[in-house]
Amino acid sequence: MQLNLMNFFPMRRLVLSMSFFVLFTTFFSCSSDNEEDLFEDMMIETASFADNILPILQTNCYGCHSVDNAVFGAGLILEGHSNLISFVDSNKFPEVLTGAGGLSVMPPSGQLTTSQIDLIQQWIDEGALDN
Ligand code: HEC
Repeated sequence: MQLNLMNFFPMRRLVLSMSFFVLFTTFFSCSSDNEEDLFEDMMIETASFADNILPILQTNCYGCHSVDNAVFGAGLILEGHSNLISFVDSNKFPEVLTGAGGLSVMPPSGQLTTSQIDLIQQWIDEGALDN
């Protein structure tokens, strides 16, 4: 009886340490993904309107907010730097991307990714330049 118990406990410890190993490797593989994301974000020293911001708007906003398609976006035109800047000045951009201040989240099909929103925020923090 004593012997059986002695055998049982080491087994339990082995199973436990193996589960921890699996948990830890899962945790670290996830966090290293996030670190890669972070690293990619940090790669952009100065956000460029033409290279970084415009492509996001073209894909996600201009279907309804370009000069030609404004009929789908309640007549609001975000195309071109100067038109977009008026939304930055009126505190609707980037607030509209997260629905802050009670605005409906844009695009209506679903929020942009965190790194896209961070990049737009970075561009605004850097002065929302036409660069
Ligand atoms: C499928 C069409 C569609 C797309 C795509 C779209 N919008 Fe809109 N947007 C609208 C409509 C319709 C309104 C007006 C009604 C509303 O506020 O919901 C609007 C309103 C807005 C407003 C004004 C909000 C307010 O309450 O005054 C802003 C700013 C805006 N959109 C920005 C964006 C941005 C930025 C994107 C891309 C990230 C985008 N929209 C994508 C249709 C769209």
